[in-house]
Amino acid sequence: MRTIAVMTSGGDAPGMNAAIRAVVRVGLDKGLRVKGVQRGYKGLINGEIFDMNRSAVAEIIQKGGTILKTASCDEFRTQEARERSANVLRLFGIDGLVVIGGDGAFAGASLLSKLGVAAVAIPGTIDNDLGYTDYTIGFDTALNTVIEAINKLRDTANSHNRVSIVEVMGRGCGEIALYGGLAGGAESILIPEKDFDKNEICKKIFQGKSRGKLHHLVLVAEGVCDTNELAREIEEITGVETRTTILGHIQRGGNPSAFDRILASRMGERAVELLMEGKTSSAVGIKNGEIIDIDIDEALSMPRIFNEKIYNMMRILSS
Ligand code: F6P
Repeated sequence: MRTIAVMTSGGDAPGMNAAIRAVVRVGLDKGLRVKGVQRGYKGLINGEIFDMNRSAVAEIIQKGGTILKTASCDEFRTQEARERSANVLRLFGIDGLVVIGGDGAFAGASLLSKLGVAAVAIPGTIDNDLGYTDYTIGFDTALNTVIEAINKLRDTANSHNRVSIVEVMGRGCGEIALYGGLAGGAESILIPEKDFDKNEICKKIFQGKSRGKLHHLVLVAEGVCDTNELAREIEEITGVETRTTILGHIQRGGNPSAFDRILASRMGERAVELLMEGKTSSAVGIKNGEIIDIDIDEALSMPRIFNEKIYNMMRILSS
């Protein structure tokens, strides 16, 4: 292993830059040459590859987004594009590739490894939807963004005695809504892992009102329902004014939290070590505070186990 490359793929996540920094600096420290691939698999196919030194990653640990840029790439679904990518890597003398991203990025890394490219995947997505790891880079920062927004929405919901519906991201996974709801003290959460009953929410609103509650916060994971329609129905049933806020891409940006910076640094370091140890298809993760690694395909096959205990606690605390 003499030359490695690093790239980010799929949706950006706060902390990706800290991971890039770790890969570059640990790689250089170990005597490797390090290159950056721009715009994910799209850039890889087109040979958008450049040399990286220590100063290329200066002043980025605190920055959201990804200095390497990212893109979705339908073309990579074809065998031809993947073979071209493997060839590009050979052409640039790259022996190992670190890919930072979500499940799509992992799937790409696995396919490349089958074409003889040594690949290590680092989980970078706000969704925290990968089953093999306790945390993905970006989740903690996104949660903090959600909490900050909830705090503000509470102020105005309280002043007006309103119901506030807040839609968060997650792409089919309820982690942001669940933990955001828990930390933000939401009265109701709607997540894809659980059926919801609109009447139950309305009953809770009535009960809260009779206890002198000034507001009711409903946290909804995207895709569970049409939040504007839900607001209309709640207002109709309860007579309580209801407003909807869709947080959207604000959850993807911002300075990474200390947790994400540390996680990204540890994962970046381990990724380089794995390539140097001769691993050809590994996913880095964290379990019970320890950095772990498993085969990428195995990582992808592990479903995220929904935390019923947290969900039940959340229901008790919010009632
Ligand atoms: O996977 C991260 C994520 O932010 C999801 O939570 C969301 O569903 C999706 O990406 C949004 O994708 P895009 O940035 O392409 O709109």
